[in-house]
Amino acid sequence: MSKIRASNRIVAGFSLLMVLALSLSGQTSLPGVRYVGYTESQLILEALAEALPTDLRSKNPGELAKAWPNWVRGRDSEIRVRLAQGDEDSLVNFLLFGISYTKQPRITAKELAEIKQDSTSSAGNRFRSSGSSIIRRRIDDLIRALSAAGRNERLLFARRLLIEQRGHNLNTPAGRAELNKYLLASVSRVLNERAGHDRTLEAARLLASTTEEFAERSRLYRTRGLSSDTSLLPNFALEESLKAMQGRGLLGAGSIRRIAIIGPGLDFADKQEGYDFYPQQTIQPFAIIDTLSRLGLAKPEALQVTTFDLSPRVNHHLELAQKRARRGHPYVVQLPRDPQAQWKPAAVRFWEHFGNQIGITVPPVAIPASAGELKIRAVSIHPGIAARITPIDLNIVLQHLDLPARDRFDLIIATNIFVYYDTFEQSLGMANVERMLRPGGVMLSNNVLLELPFSRMHSIDYLTVVYSERPNDGDHIVWYQRASD
Ligand SMILES: C[S@@+](CC[C@H](N)C(=O)[O-])C[C@H]1O[C@@H](n2cnc3c(N)ncnc32)[C@H](O)[C@@H]1O
Repeated sequence: MSKIRASNRIVAGFSLLMVLALSLSGQTSLPGVRYVGYTESQLILEALAEALPTDLRSKNPGELAKAWPNWVRGRDSEIRVRLAQGDEDSLVNFLLFGISYTKQPRITAKELAEIKQDSTSSAGNRFRSSGSSIIRRRIDDLIRALSAAGRNERLLFARRLLIEQRGHNLNTPAGRAELNKYLLASVSRVLNERAGHDRTLEAARLLASTTEEFAERSRLYRTRGLSSDTSLLPNFALEESLKAMQGRGLLGAGSIRRIAIIGPGLDFADKQEGYDFYPQQTIQPFAIIDTLSRLGLAKPEALQVTTFDLSPRVNHHLELAQKRARRGHPYVVQLPRDPQAQWKPAAVRFWEHFGNQIGITVPPVAIPASAGELKIRAVSIHPGIAARITPIDLNIVLQHLDLPARDRFDLIIATNIFVYYDTFEQSLGMANVERMLRPGGVMLSNNVLLELPFSRMHSIDYLTVVYSERPNDGDHIVWYQRASD
């Protein structure tokens, strides 16, 4: 792939004692979150006049200026509404792969294909394959389990979503039948949506250049629900990128002191594996601290970690982790690995050393037989690390922190975030990143974003990292650097 350039196309160092001391020292307090103003967005609005949402496109500059504050707030609410749809998508993954509420086998790729096929068949033949029978039995089991969710946090989440938010009724046969129908329709919707994405990707592959293809992939989920799921391997690609940047002299030893992770996510039941036999967890903030420490890019006594997310679930999880860490509790991350997935040796090495800078290897949770032949590691991350992570509710498309120059970030991580937005929203997001990065600071993203002529954010290179022998299993990490003012 050609280097992604400015174009008009959318295209062991942590001593645990030191860390403990750090956790007690508190963090710099950060100023409040601010919506982006009209004047700040004016150039983007002008440059992308043709690509604006319909409610903005018809307005002249005077009308735009007047409408902007309300539009921004309204759009913020609309974006946040997409979380419910993303949560429902996670619930479908839980239905397909979960083993904590059913004895039915996990759905295989072959059965997924059958269900996909069934869901588009004519009404009389719908959902007749063996894959579909498994899904039906899984739905029955899930509905039964919802009545006795106990302390299963994923079932409690499903209850909240289906009963409190969607108003389903578990207490009557008619209510349960209705829920059954709803869940089957949700599976069908998600699978059709994925088939649509596959078609878009296939069409993108036929485009003239790989950069065009990457640009199309980078907006793929712009109309989808906002998923909060996360997994280990994008962090492997980030480690490889940071290593390569260091090798090229782009990042110096101890040069990173403030980092922000946009959309850290929560491992609930992701669309590839969907394991549910361990507590929900976040991975990326820990992975990045671990990597920076391993590479000698960050000094523990100077490291400040902020996460930005608009999901209350993600933010609440991180707030609890921080509170627990301040009381001295470690944060335990479970790291399952399916040997059948044929990870590349370097990815396996990443999995093997994950956490060795910031915690200790501990016995993992037991793997239930129905999860298949998995390998698993667990790392208990030192409280001093988890205590350093400050979660902030922020919508990167429309908000930023108004930071004084000395508090701006050296490094911002944004993987699997911008793909949920269109070009206009990505450009607003990129401008918000620019406002929070110090000159020379870097953002790493696995999406390629438009570099508008007036933007100070420029892609300086990218790295492709392949995770496994499976087709298309990897990421291009684009290195964006903020130019000086
Ligand atoms: C699919 S997860 C990705 C998690 C992780 N970055 C990774 O690569 O595995 C997307 C995360 O971004 C968050 N998110 C989505 N849109 C956002 C926005 N506009 N501002 C802040 N966070 C956002 C979601 O709530 C979720 O936590």
